[in-house]
Amino acid sequence: MYCVKEIQKDLYWVGGTDRRLALFENAFPIPNGISYNSYVLLDEKNVLFDTVDRAISGQFFDNLEYVLGERELDYLVINHMEPDHCATIGEVIRRYPKVQLVCNQKTVPLLKQFFDFSVEEKLVLVKEGDTLSTGHHELTFVMAAMVHWPEVMVTYDKTDKILFSADAFGTFGAMNGNLFADEVNFETEWLSDARRYYTNIVGKYGVQVQALLKKAETLEIKLLCSLHGPVWRKNIGWFVEKYQKWSSYTPEENAVMIAYGSIYGHTENMANILACCLADEGVKNVKVYDVSATHPSYLVSEAFRCSHLVFASVTYNSGLFSNMEHLLLELKAHNLQNRTIALMENGSWGPAAVRKMAEILDSMKNIELLEQKVAVKSSVKDAQAEEIKALAKEMARAVKGN
Ligand code: FEO
Repeated sequence: MYCVKEIQKDLYWVGGTDRRLALFENAFPIPNGISYNSYVLLDEKNVLFDTVDRAISGQFFDNLEYVLGERELDYLVINHMEPDHCATIGEVIRRYPKVQLVCNQKTVPLLKQFFDFSVEEKLVLVKEGDTLSTGHHELTFVMAAMVHWPEVMVTYDKTDKILFSADAFGTFGAMNGNLFADEVNFETEWLSDARRYYTNIVGKYGVQVQALLKKAETLEIKLLCSLHGPVWRKNIGWFVEKYQKWSSYTPEENAVMIAYGSIYGHTENMANILACCLADEGVKNVKVYDVSATHPSYLVSEAFRCSHLVFASVTYNSGLFSNMEHLLLELKAHNLQNRTIALMENGSWGPAAVRKMAEILDSMKNIELLEQKVAVKSSVKDAQAEEIKALAKEMARAVKGN
């Protein structure tokens, strides 16, 4: 049975949601599920924009059949070839053998790698600025390499001013009946998933996202149709502003994230004492996380949100506690930059965590490490309260001066 949403009289959402998948890309927890969006434009030539993940192909084809009815499917625009969107292309071609594939040259090898059908005879190749008339509508194509794969492009419907933005402006989270972002409480219920999606999936490619945003500035956008999550028709600028911040590695909020790696609780104690000292210094918006209990994808997202970071780690095997090392390497891999950071360590016989953490952070761009450090041996003693207070004061000065 179909589950279709009409966006406007000739445009339909034919995607679906998956609440069974535990890990997106077999890496990122998605407790709120995920949607795979696909859109049909009915015109003299009928167009499908991207397909969906194999997991929801049954729903997708029910939707597609319902919307098309007896009509022909003329074009499939392929904005992105990652399998969460391309997996069902082969089946689309089997069911609609006359369909032509509208894509750019970089898509071709990926089509051949993933599928066995005769790719060349199906192609309508497009490049930056090319247009395609479907009758009433005129589509134009904007290349968006590395947002999030090399072949990515976005498609702009010049007639109705709709941007089909591929992964850009997507979010984790299953749809709950309402299709439009203005029909849900996006800021309180979706933003953290949108941030975690952006930072973990596309966060490394800030330069390329900035390039796409620059191109998008020249377009009047009335509808923003991403491949994941709600469709935007109101207050689009608010979400674009979030993307401006995330992609330029500008902190979203004046806030402190304290991430600690603790084995028996003493390093955790040090982190909690610091949090209290920061609060005493008048710092608001402090969040404390255990790196062993929190999936790194949440901490990457929080590191993009917060202006100031504290890493407190125990020393382990004469090196860095592995969960803390994993987090720092994730932050480096996602190109995090422009942050002020404080370090704290613990080690019963040979503390090495600060040195090891600094080695990773020194290789990242525009990271300022605070002078004041705290080194604890085994457990926090009263005598070290002053050291922690001094660190809190230095951090508070940095937060307030931000
Ligand atoms: Fe939603 Fe890069 O795929």
